[in-house]
Amino acid sequence: DRNGLAQPPTGVGLDGLRSAAAGCRACELWEPATQTVFGEGPETARIVFVGEQPGDQEDRKGEPFVGPAGRLLDKALDDAGIDRRDAYITNAVKHFRFTPKGKRRIHQTPGPEHLRACRPWLESEFAVLQPEVVVCLGATAAKALISPSFRITKDRGQLIPWTPPGPAAVVGDEADDDEPDEGAPAQTWMLATTHPSAILRTPDEARTTAYDALVTDLRVVARALA
Ligand code: URA
Repeated sequence: DRNGLAQPPTGVGLDGLRSAAAGCRACELWEPATQTVFGEGPETARIVFVGEQPGDQEDRKGEPFVGPAGRLLDKALDDAGIDRRDAYITNAVKHFRFTPKGKRRIHQTPGPEHLRACRPWLESEFAVLQPEVVVCLGATAAKALISPSFRITKDRGQLIPWTPPGPAAVVGDEADDDEPDEGAPAQTWMLATTHPSAILRTPDEARTTAYDALVTDLRVVARALA
């Protein structure tokens, strides 16, 4: 099924979703990639970070944000007072898209067809986690989850009331049960900020400013969870 839709199982929890995603063939990215890189973090996480797609090292290790961008994210979280171990970290697309160049593999931005095919996994992650705050790291996640017209430079750092897409509202409820989900937050908030990789690409003279702006945005999130 090339560029169909991922079909996550329901009622299985994060581990069940992770196992199922390991065999996903909803788009063609699975084939050249080493493995599916599913989200990581506790099921009790109140905050979810959504990046773009795994990079070279994530593809090899099978875990999100463990390469250079991940190290920058770790430092920024630390500086903002957020413990990475309390957060769930995932990506909008769960396979590494790249073009080979000699021995190297050059990152390619995922296309709309990859975002679409992979989206049911993200929706299932939200349904299980029922986060209080979702942080989009970069334009790919923000455009996919907020609006195609979202501009990081203009709209970053603001907490926006947001309803997770997908089956979240009915998970754990009987179909005829109109009580709110047990444990579901009254309101989910979204905030978009710069992708850590964009900061790594920022020229030396502007990099500290870009990094500080990321930490400032993350402090907004830390305060919302306090
Ligand atoms: N960049 C991303 O968007 N996600 C990762 O997991 C690593 C780098």
